[in-house]
Amino acid sequence: MTRLEVSNLKAYYFTSKGVVKAVDDVTFSTNESIGIAGESGSGKSTLALSILRMLQPPGRVVDGKIMLDGIDILAMDEHEFNARIRWKRIAMVFQAAMNALDPVYRVEEQMEELLRYHDYVGDDVSTLLSNAVKQVGLGDDVLRRYPHELSGGMKQRIVIAMALLMKPSLLIADEPTTALDVLVQAQIINLLKRLKREGLMLMLITHDLSIIAEVADRIGIMYAGQMVEFGSTDQVYREPRHPYTQALLQSIPRLRGEKRLTYIKGSPIDLLNIPRGCRFYARCPYAMDKCREEDPPALYDGGGNEYGYVRCWLYSRH
Ligand SMILES: Nc1ncnc2c1ncn2[C@@H]1O[C@H](COP(=O)(O)OP(=O)(O)OP(=O)(O)O)[C@@H](O)[C@H]1O
Ligand SMILES: [Mg+2]
Repeated sequence: MTRLEVSNLKAYYFTSKGVVKAVDDVTFSTNESIGIAGESGSGKSTLALSILRMLQPPGRVVDGKIMLDGIDILAMDEHEFNARIRWKRIAMVFQAAMNALDPVYRVEEQMEELLRYHDYVGDDVSTLLSNAVKQVGLGDDVLRRYPHELSGGMKQRIVIAMALLMKPSLLIADEPTTALDVLVQAQIINLLKRLKREGLMLMLITHDLSIIAEVADRIGIMYAGQMVEFGSTDQVYREPRHPYTQALLQSIPRLRGEKRLTYIKGSPIDLLNIPRGCRFYARCPYAMDKCREEDPPALYDGGGNEYGYVRCWLYSRH
């Protein structure tokens, strides 16, 4: 059974200006940790929020299927999903979450509040909290502190500890290192790697491909609401096929945190007004006439869960 399977997912924002097709027919499946990369506005957070069923209006999942460990999570009613899945099997570290810690409460109060929210019954709470902070490499003393007394790295660890409180099997981390300096980024990445070794499945979202190389076994590249390439991290890094993936990989700094050397020319399309053909057409160095006419389908490598695909006419035999 495939652990996480997303099929033909569409999640749109219905705005006064029109429909923003932020996730537009995204398909992938994985048994291992996955990284999702792509530039700002490509739909990464919308995809993540759809999986946790936390997309807020005007956003809505309009089509598709999401299966986690054989459970059809979009088909469940909200009460059941909340009771069985959200935070308990799938948890998320939201983009910029560490800035959302409540400044007037101590760390332990915020964690206790979370347990109350989940009607937690079980182990002694203080042991649970002390194990939770230990799991992310912090000492008990942080529990008594207020967020402003903690460094950025410590706050990010707390946010991760909170997401892990209900022992989820899938942790979605949306840009977990973005606001941190290089050394602290490395520490958070090491933490994520350790959690993965301990059995947690990760879905790591970032615009920084160098982070995914370290943490994820599979990778999905998003461009303008679509997943344009999907496969094993090794394969995609060794032999990137989509011209957008190639450009992204060329723009990876040699050292983490270093400024980008090359930029991808041009700007992404307007998701309110998606042109015919390939969405990368206007920026693609290999664009052909066909690319302007028809949106490329996903061209799969083979069957089974080990498949990868690329959405690009360059690889089509027709
Ligand atoms: N609440 C909203 N209402 C309308 N449009 C939205 C809303 N939230 C996101 N969008 C649009 O949906 C598209 C995808 O946004 P999303 O936040 O998923 O991208 P992202 O890949 O996570 O970007 P970033 O790297 O900046 O976090 C963008 O065009 C964005 O402007
Ligand atoms: Mg985002």
